[in-house]
Amino acid sequence: MIQNLIYKFFSTDMGIDLGTANTLVYVKGKGIVLNEPSVVAVIKGTNKVLNNGNAVGIEAKKMLGLTPPNIEAIRPLKDGVIADFDTSRALISYFIRKVHSNRVRGLYRPQVVIAVPSGINEVEKRAVVNSAERAGARKVFLIEEPKAAGIGAGLPVEEARGSMVVDIGGGTTEVAVLSLAGIVSAESVGIAGDEMDEAIIKFMRDAHNLQIGFRTAEQIKMKIGSAWPLEKEMTLDVRGYDLTESLPRKVTIHSENVREALSVPVNSIINTIRRVLEATPPELSGDLVDSGMTLAGGGALLRGLNKAIAESTRLPVRTADDPLTCVARGTGITLENPFLMAVLEEGVGHDG
Ligand SMILES: Nc1ncnc2c1ncn2[C@@H]1O[C@H](COP(=O)(O)OP(=O)(O)OP(=O)(O)O)[C@@H](O)[C@H]1O
Ligand SMILES: [Mg+2]
Repeated sequence: MIQNLIYKFFSTDMGIDLGTANTLVYVKGKGIVLNEPSVVAVIKGTNKVLNNGNAVGIEAKKMLGLTPPNIEAIRPLKDGVIADFDTSRALISYFIRKVHSNRVRGLYRPQVVIAVPSGINEVEKRAVVNSAERAGARKVFLIEEPKAAGIGAGLPVEEARGSMVVDIGGGTTEVAVLSLAGIVSAESVGIAGDEMDEAIIKFMRDAHNLQIGFRTAEQIKMKIGSAWPLEKEMTLDVRGYDLTESLPRKVTIHSENVREALSVPVNSIINTIRRVLEATPPELSGDLVDSGMTLAGGGALLRGLNKAIAESTRLPVRTADDPLTCVARGTGITLENPFLMAVLEEGVGHDG
């Protein structure tokens, strides 16, 4: 009884959105307490994380600018799945420890809800669960990312009608139709924000002979990128490395051309949405005629993406409030809702 009270008081039950680009942690009763890039700095060619396992997240990103050649910054969750087990473990463990250390350590082992891509396999699931257990979690529950996104966006996912969510992250786009707190039809593709950056890099090389890095490409996307004609088209000066002259150079680019370059990944995303709509049973797709779909994830912030999708599907499209935090907020709402917790799969992370 007393113990229960203590447990409650020191509760660090948490929800984690383990994203390719960003990891967010939601603590029950407190909200989002951590939001850092999913980056780990290691000694090149090894899995040894610098600073005794503490060169993770913002710290790792800070080191990026100053890294000597023997240091490497890794994104262990490339394409939304665990590409590198050891560094993923370092990442999960660091974030749980960081949140946990504010509390009385060791007294309470938290329950953790972790959002994972819907297409993840058993081995990958086990790796995620295992990492969280080693970091001190008592029970680990997995929730499919699009479901968490739908819950975070305030969709009535528990009801007996169809709700559609499109979560466009860094590595993956997840499209799902949800009903009765479960996924009815879904598809996950490895085309999202990163592919948009790559399309811009290719465009700069092909059209302007300019080599740019991922950071610059992402800046271009955020500043003037779009998926639908803008009320006022824009230009941007971009600095890069001229491939013919082998010198640094500056060029001015136009939003129309960037949109053209982005149309390739954008169309892939739209085609995925159409496939999921086709695979949805008619009773539920009927619901979507009125409720349409909700966009979440950082990619949802691309200008005019909602218009492009609405035009192609002829369905209402809404962008969630604060799309970058939908999945994390969804894990938090789940932690606080016994019905939603009851339908989650408890992860088994022990080896064998
Ligand atoms: N204003 C913006 N316009 C376009 N794209 C944006 C904008 N802001 C962020 N993004 C993109 O959103 C992506 C990150 O989104 P998010 O944090 O939802 O991904 P993630 O959850 O880490 O990845 P995933 O869900 O694939 O594992 C990045 O590709 C980033 O460039
Ligand atoms: Mg995500």
